[in-house]
Amino acid sequence: MLLDDWITEFDRGLRSMTGVSRMTRPMPLPAGSADSASVERVEMTAQERAHAAGLMRVNHVGEVCAQALYQAQKLATRSPALKQAFEHAAREEEDHLAWTAKRLEALDSRPSLLNPLWYAGALAIGFAAGRFGDRVSLGFMAETERQVEHHLDGHMETLPAGDYESRAIVEQMRADEAAHGKAAMDAGGVELPFPARALMRAASKIMTTTAYRI
Ligand SMILES: [Fe+2]
Ligand SMILES: [Fe+2]
Repeated sequence: MLLDDWITEFDRGLRSMTGVSRMTRPMPLPAGSADSASVERVEMTAQERAHAAGLMRVNHVGEVCAQALYQAQKLATRSPALKQAFEHAAREEEDHLAWTAKRLEALDSRPSLLNPLWYAGALAIGFAAGRFGDRVSLGFMAETERQVEHHLDGHMETLPAGDYESRAIVEQMRADEAAHGKAAMDAGGVELPFPARALMRAASKIMTTTAYRI
């Protein structure tokens, strides 16, 4: 790993936590809207807005963690092909990060105050997974993406029906996460044993319940 690479990753980490991520793809819009000005909007109650913001904050934290996980994996692997695959996924995760941050702003809310903590935790977990070698590392990413995808399914059920904009974002994210998970398995990821999967679910439960509020 060259010094340049470390600087790039450090910069990415800082941007993740401070919410100034760049999007390379525009914000997903509800079907039928040509641009954000023409989006059909339904007036939401204060409670609905707060709920939508809570969910989008959870998603934003998830993306902060995704940045850290993919960074750690990239630094851990020696395979140039794998590095590139992780880089590609991380790039898409950065879109997710930027979209959810923007949506939070539109909902008059803010990202989690604990982002540095989530980021550091995910980085540590990512490095730990990386120590088991590429195939476990890939299996870990695949399982992570699967859990996120499942989690986003849940959000589609509970997001306010009229919050078309958050829904459009979550839907695109779900499609991307599914593709990331598949790519990780196709690249040789192994199925993780049940205790590892259960532990991951428990950790994400703590994260999601906390980030909904703080
Ligand atoms: Fe994502
Ligand atoms: Fe992903």
